[in-house]
Amino acid sequence: MTGVTPIPKPQYNWRDTLLSRQLGTRLPIMATGLQWLANAEYVAAAVDVGMMGFISAATFSDTSALRDEIQRCRELLNGRAFGVNVSMLPKLLPGDRTDEIMSLIVEERIAVVETSGRDPSPYVAGLKAGGCSLVHKVPQLRHALKAEAAGVDAVILVGAECGGHPGELPVGTMVQGALAARTLTIPFALGGGIATGEQIVAALALGASGVAIGTHFLVSDEIPAHAEYKRRLIEAQPGDTTLIMSSLRNSMRVLRNDTTAIVEALEGQGINDIQQLMPYVRGSLGKAAYASGDWRQGALSVGQGVGLTARNAPLADIVAELEAEADTALARLSNI
Ligand SMILES: Cc1cc2nc3c(=O)[nH]c(=O)nc-3n(C[C@H](O)[C@H](O)[C@H](O)COP(=O)(O)O)c2cc1C
Repeated sequence: MTGVTPIPKPQYNWRDTLLSRQLGTRLPIMATGLQWLANAEYVAAAVDVGMMGFISAATFSDTSALRDEIQRCRELLNGRAFGVNVSMLPKLLPGDRTDEIMSLIVEERIAVVETSGRDPSPYVAGLKAGGCSLVHKVPQLRHALKAEAAGVDAVILVGAECGGHPGELPVGTMVQGALAARTLTIPFALGGGIATGEQIVAALALGASGVAIGTHFLVSDEIPAHAEYKRRLIEAQPGDTTLIMSSLRNSMRVLRNDTTAIVEALEGQGINDIQQLMPYVRGSLGKAAYASGDWRQGALSVGQGVGLTARNAPLADIVAELEAEADTALARLSNI
């Protein structure tokens, strides 16, 4: 074409967002809490590659074991910042250690806390006074708005596709992101089914300042789980997950296996008594499955993004692939 001066394309750096600046990370990606799996080595690898990683407090039966893990992570990272995930789900059985864990977090001067499961407001002032950023994860926008009003620094919205808890009225990640962008004023990250760089660009295009990833990182070398479990995840299709525990208003997206067949049958019969379901869904079975590789047993949190997960590799390689895909996706957009 002659006589037309092309308009220069604006340079857009997807790696530099409100959230990456807030977290002080190279990338706007969070490797969020994974009970039994997000340990010091995994979190250190996440931080090393430029993400924010979170040690799962729920893995540790007492605060002194959590304190030791924090110490180990600090050593691996030579003092660089990392996070702790505090899952505050309403307990199905008695016993709640949240107060104790939050005190430890402030004492240990942890940089960022990822909370989930219930209203974080009782902890906002204490964490802020301790210089700790608070990122609260929710499956519903109304809870995100409440957390925003309570003064959290950022929220993570997870959609129905996510591994773990998508809430009782699950909303797809695409809709979740669009709603959040129109409503929230604080930075938000989007999670649930994100397993490619193209999806990261899509989340940012929707208005998110970052993404939260769980399932896609489960096959990384640093995840302390048996190779046979990782092999099953690599093979799995998006439809190989299912939602259980809705009868207890504690829905979980997990890998379809022998345990889910039993739990679905019991729930189908109208059984919603935790004592009857607990023998199948208790956390110790999941822990044992990760150790033995027998993925047929236990309620193993896995999201639909598992269908996009094709190989196991060091976390750094998986993230490098995500970055390359995101760069390509943006270049492609600039050429349309
Ligand atoms: C195996 C596994 C364990 C998880 N454990 C926790 C946990 O202890 N606390 C928490 O807040 N979220 C937990 N999650 C949720 C993740 O932090 C994250 O929100 C979710 O995986 C994002 O969706 P995705 O799985 O589609 O990437 C877990 C997820 C998985 C897959």
